[in-house]
Amino acid sequence: MILSIESSCDDSSVAVTEIATGKLLFHKKISQESDHAKYGGVVPELAARLHATALPGILEQTRSYFPGLKAVAVTNAPGLAVTLVEGVTMAKALSISLNLPLIGVNHLHGHIYSLFLEKETLFPMTILLVSGGHTQVINAQGYKDFSIVAQTMDDSFGESFDKVAKMLGLGYPGGPIVEAYAKSGDENRFDFTVPLGNSGKIAFSYSGLKNQVRLQIEALGDLTKQDQCDICASFQRVATAHLLQKLKKIFKNGTIKDFAIVGGASANLYLREKIDALCSAFGATLHLAPLAYCSDNAAMIGRCAIDAYRRSDFTPMEELVSAPKSAI
Ligand code: KG4
Ligand code: ZN
Repeated sequence: MILSIESSCDDSSVAVTEIATGKLLFHKKISQESDHAKYGGVVPELAARLHATALPGILEQTRSYFPGLKAVAVTNAPGLAVTLVEGVTMAKALSISLNLPLIGVNHLHGHIYSLFLEKETLFPMTILLVSGGHTQVINAQGYKDFSIVAQTMDDSFGESFDKVAKMLGLGYPGGPIVEAYAKSGDENRFDFTVPLGNSGKIAFSYSGLKNQVRLQIEALGDLTKQDQCDICASFQRVATAHLLQKLKKIFKNGTIKDFAIVGGASANLYLREKIDALCSAFGATLHLAPLAYCSDNAAMIGRCAIDAYRRSDFTPMEELVSAPKSAI
């Protein structure tokens, strides 16, 4: 079995996965969302303190698995420097006390492996990663064989939902809240411009759209609940249309048989529906992670670590450092 730890942002999570079968034997996650909600975003120092309290408590519940463990895996990049180090330090302590090898897992690789929980891997695949920190289209050829096809030039898709929710005073994390408000809104009431609509560039940008929303909120002044819903729906339509417009170009440029969406924002059902239609139009199959494993979790880190273990791709203790920034 492999014990895996995730602490890259505001979720403290530990999992135990069986190597031979990929079966998830234990998974627990404590989300700090409500602790950060009043600040409208994640406060790194607070997140680190909360990990320091939560992680040992979850780990205690995995004690019965200790005798059967073969490795300890941990997210070591990218993420918040002060929170990554909480998980990495715990992994090192476990490695020393139980005499187990370490596996450092790139958080983005983890999101990709959320597609393969309790399943075999499927490569090649083209993957849209939409999270709070990233918006990327990835060409995934195999284990650690990932290249970026397109990415955001500024804000990420998920982050733009968080900012819109914050501007509307709706709380954090914004993604699920904006999606819920959008359900009761008129998506055509506000005619926001689709970012990079007239540009041939295959890239993403959300800072301009965020600004359009801000100006609209200011122009309206006092907002009714219906105004908020209409802004959420119009924003969600345009934010998604932007992804679709660029993805269409990517689909046209190559032959994509298997396409996937991963990351926290892949839980958005509006986005799922639109991308499903795009895949159908191009004869591609859409792959999705289970809804509960779209946002950060240790199960996806454990699943990725199984592939590392099979290749003896271990990380020497002195090389296991937490790195806030790292590419796919
Ligand atoms: O993958 P994740 O849990 O953390 C990072 O690695 O960043 O993604 C969190 C992000 C947040 O920005 C959150 O607002 C967004 O995913 N998100 C959503 C939805 N659920 C979560 N964005 C849009 N619609 C959703 N339903
Ligand atoms: Zn993530």
